Amino acid sequence: MPRVWIEKILDEPELYLLRIDDDQIKYFEATWGIPEGITYNAYLLKLDGAVVLFDAWKKNYAKEFIEALSKLVDPEEITHIIVHHTEPDHSGSLPKVLELNGYKAQLIGTSFAKRLLEAFYGSKAVENFYTIKDGEEMKIGGKTFRFITVPWLHWPDTMITYIVEHGLMFSCDAGGGYSIPKGIDDSNEEIVQNYLPYVTKYIVTVIGHYHKYIIQNIEKLKKLGIIEETKMILPGHGLIWRKNPKRIFEYYEAVGAGIPKKGKILVIYDSMYGFVEKTIEIALDELKKHGYNPVVYKFTDKEAPAVSDILGEVPDSEALIIGASTYEANIHPRVRYVLYEIVDKANYEKPVLVLGAYGWGGVAGREIETMIMRSKFDHVDTIEAKGRATKEDEEKIREGVRKLLERLNK
Ligand code: FEO
Repeated sequence: MPRVWIEKILDEPELYLLRIDDDQIKYFEATWGIPEGITYNAYLLKLDGAVVLFDAWKKNYAKEFIEALSKLVDPEEITHIIVHHTEPDHSGSLPKVLELNGYKAQLIGTSFAKRLLEAFYGSKAVENFYTIKDGEEMKIGGKTFRFITVPWLHWPDTMITYIVEHGLMFSCDAGGGYSIPKGIDDSNEEIVQNYLPYVTKYIVTVIGHYHKYIIQNIEKLKKLGIIEETKMILPGHGLIWRKNPKRIFEYYEAVGAGIPKKGKILVIYDSMYGFVEKTIEIALDELKKHGYNPVVYKFTDKEAPAVSDILGEVPDSEALIIGASTYEANIHPRVRYVLYEIVDKANYEKPVLVLGAYGWGGVAGREIETMIMRSKFDHVDTIEAKGRATKEDEEKIREGVRKLLERLNK
């Protein structure tokens, strides 16, 4: 059963985390395999004459959300609801909150958020909606709330709230990650280290299509001086950042820019009957001779790794090796799908070597080359074997790997 956390984060102002650990979910957005689960974080702030709710949980957990919220406040007493982003993992429980609140609370968000809430939950949900302008400040309960839009991080509706007097940044998806960390914040380094790979996987799968906006929006926050001043980052998923709040945005920037880890080569391939695998074994042997330690994902008749996990490996790889069979005059379907998602969501300037094998006609290599050429990736070479790799193929593959590594050392 999902665990519910109701944690006091601050005494002054009185701030609470409401978190549920969704260990039942299998595919985030009905697509991305996350056996590690995810948390939904909402926050409640009690001020003089105001009770402010920041976001909510997914609809499946509306009952649990109301139970948790009611331990802190009668929902009728909520005066403001800040809607940072309307994706239903954060907004799904809002209709129930509004109903119990008697629709008295003022909802605050962007014009996009208003339109989307109305589309999802009907016009009554937005009867009392205030539309903010980028950078607008509002006094609530004696505190200054500054609203900053961060469009396409990852929907057009997205904004963050900054409480000026206390340096609190409510960032919703930005700064979030997959998995169910064992703690609530970044105070334990072991928990942070276990969590960060799931942050990468989250960034690529959820925000990756818009990854240039990660850099742009972080630049915007830097120029406003907010990142320097922030004392706590309170995201809609995963850990709260209060020991070192800047760290999570530095991490987001590094993933957005695809900063590589020295020596990491990502190898992805399918092999129906072992012929592609032979070409890959030669490449792996050559990589090892040069001191590289590849990370390998393979699709065979015995295994099919999660595409979400593969995507999470791309940003910090130095280079990629893709191996594919030709299948019905096209790229093998598994590798075709992985590549489609890589060039869509993890499109970086990294060198790629293409390997493969075919029976009666080689097409996969040419098709992959076309996909690579149309992306930011840098195509190094394509080497395909007709059936099993010959001695001559082996020499070409080893030469291809050396060419790939030369690109890294330029
Ligand atoms: Fe966590 Fe885009 O919703």
